[in-house]
Amino acid sequence: MIKLYNTLFALLLVTFLPGFAMAASSESRAETLTVSSPGDIHQIHFFLNEGIPYYSVDRIGQQILAPSRLGFEIRQMAGFDRNLTVLGSETSEFEETWEQVWGEKQYIDNHYRELRVDLGDANAESTRMTIVFRAYDDGIGFRYEIPEQPGLDRIHIMDERTEFTLTEDYTAWYIGAYQWNRFEYLTRTSPISEIDTVHTPLTLRSDDGLYLSFHEAALVDYSTMTLERISSEKGNDSSDQNRRNSSGKDHHITLKANLMPWADGVLVRTDTPMVTPWRTLQTADQPGDLITSYLILNLNEPNKLEDTSWIKPAKYIGIWWEMHLDKSTWGIGPNHGATTENAKHYIDFAAKHGFPHVLIEGWNVGWDENWYEEGAVFSFTEPVEGFDIEGVAKYARDRDVRIMGHHENSASVLHYEDQMEDAFAMYEELGVRGVKTGYVGHGREIIWYDDDGNPMREWHHGQFMVEHHQRVVELAASRKIALNVHEGVKDTGLRRTWPNLMTREVARGQEYNAWGDAEDLWDEGRGNPPDHVAYMPFTRMLSGPFDYTPGIFDLHYDEYRPDNRVNHTLAKELALYVVIYSPLQMAADLPQNYEANPEPFQFIRDVPADWHDTRVLHGDIGNYVTIVRKDRNSDDWFLGSLSNENSRVLMAPLDFLDPDKTWKAQIYRDGTDADWNKNPYDIVIEEKIVGHDTALPLRLAPGGGQAIRFTPVEGNQ
Ligand code: NOJ
Repeated sequence: MIKLYNTLFALLLVTFLPGFAMAASSESRAETLTVSSPGDIHQIHFFLNEGIPYYSVDRIGQQILAPSRLGFEIRQMAGFDRNLTVLGSETSEFEETWEQVWGEKQYIDNHYRELRVDLGDANAESTRMTIVFRAYDDGIGFRYEIPEQPGLDRIHIMDERTEFTLTEDYTAWYIGAYQWNRFEYLTRTSPISEIDTVHTPLTLRSDDGLYLSFHEAALVDYSTMTLERISSEKGNDSSDQNRRNSSGKDHHITLKANLMPWADGVLVRTDTPMVTPWRTLQTADQPGDLITSYLILNLNEPNKLEDTSWIKPAKYIGIWWEMHLDKSTWGIGPNHGATTENAKHYIDFAAKHGFPHVLIEGWNVGWDENWYEEGAVFSFTEPVEGFDIEGVAKYARDRDVRIMGHHENSASVLHYEDQMEDAFAMYEELGVRGVKTGYVGHGREIIWYDDDGNPMREWHHGQFMVEHHQRVVELAASRKIALNVHEGVKDTGLRRTWPNLMTREVARGQEYNAWGDAEDLWDEGRGNPPDHVAYMPFTRMLSGPFDYTPGIFDLHYDEYRPDNRVNHTLAKELALYVVIYSPLQMAADLPQNYEANPEPFQFIRDVPADWHDTRVLHGDIGNYVTIVRKDRNSDDWFLGSLSNENSRVLMAPLDFLDPDKTWKAQIYRDGTDADWNKNPYDIVIEEKIVGHDTALPLRLAPGGGQAIRFTPVEGNQ
């Protein structure tokens, strides 16, 4: 039964509701407006200092953001960052439990208190702006609204002044922004005082164990926010009174919103009325609590699709890994991967083992060209000679399988947009329910032409692409097609509003193990080092689902790529199905490698891609993680645990299991001699009877992992 209750408290005057306060502070400041989260965990304070807007944030009495600036520089009108007056304020409280169409948790509580502050020039009808703050117990969010007003129709944002002034020198985990290879980098760790400009989510830990994550929610019609460190000051040396630290800590480190610009330097082009994405800060005492915070989803608009019955989380296989290994090719030739015969072979395998989708890459015209350099070569509707797209799609449908479409456009976005409508219409006719998009292209390489025909080069994450991706999502929805986006924009929770926006890569995925180097962060091998997936749940994955493409069983593939390998044990590849959440989850290896290993393959067949609940049992960023998830469609629970290059034993209390039942644990664990480097195939598959009171030791090999399925034992329920 859907449990859904909404309570929107009537708007109340700030002074009348507990949790909201208005107080006079220092002389230069006007009143401070305060909003507290429902459980009084967070307080957000807003004030003007000589007309300049500031906010600060406390957590359980401790200041975690010192006074930090707000506002904009707008080309068409000055005064959105200074000379402002509070024209009014309103507060409200909201509480609901909403149901995800699919997800890592079925029912999500959304409970916050909101403070809206209307600002403007008291002597004119212009420079009107509202800042909306929401205080949750797991973090805070705020955004700006600029209404229609005289003299301001068009808006060019030249700077967003938003700052986040930290009160100590946190340890930071991040990837740098403005890089050649978009979001596809290994995680860096350093004191926050040493970062330059970084992508979000940005994860931090204080010396005494407070965890923070900065990100944004609902990125629509705006440019991606990166965070730039603009100052790193020691305690009382601070020249700015407003940054004075009341926390007793001796650092002020200011991060500032740095929006990825258009080619001409404008950061955002929009019209009034407008709203920005939410700027977010999640907080936790345990890193795992960042994973089970749903603040980003809560700050997105509810689902806009009336009919979602066609959107189904699922596992998929594909003509994919074989090209990354160089076993076959995307282009036509003697080893062409996407032949009619090979497609039918994959479809037979999918039908036999219960995979609803088969991804086919390389079936369309264009792959024989130098597409990597010049993407305006693809046709998204025309098959290469000999590939019977209609026959293959029907062959699939007749077996209750669908082909998963592929739109690699090599970042030639105008070329893609010209064909997009026809391409999605064709896939709909073929019965396709999911399309993987791809924007391979580097640095600032996305081209459009201005009125004089000059090429303008854009970043993958600037507003030009944010708008493009939104067009694709809406078009795909109109064709009942779900998306799996590669090389796209980072996730900001839009899957709540558009549940067909199911998953994305937008990080270093499994494919790097086929051909990638290891950057300067790992000198012992190539590809993704064993700790890569021990960072991801606490960093990239705080933004949303990740099409990492797990499940490689043949970890060495010497025949095709002798210098590359997967730097995990086999059991760890299984653990990824639980640790890395994706509603479209790939079984990435070649069918013959699964057929040769039916026992471990059973776990991939059994594990679902849609969950009722998620809990984190252990977490230490970059070291290890254990996640348990309950299947949305049965009583089963699944556990995934994994380690970096070190071995360890973690005790897993099984108190998430129903105490009234006896449970069978089907365990897939590292063998005694397992080691990602020397002995990665050593796996033990065994069964145990366990219960709510069991504490199960999880022994993880160096670079290892463990996967478990818990099923209630018949007759004991
Ligand atoms: C990069 C994507 O991440 C990968 O999955 C795909 O196979 C290639 N581009 C070709 O489209």
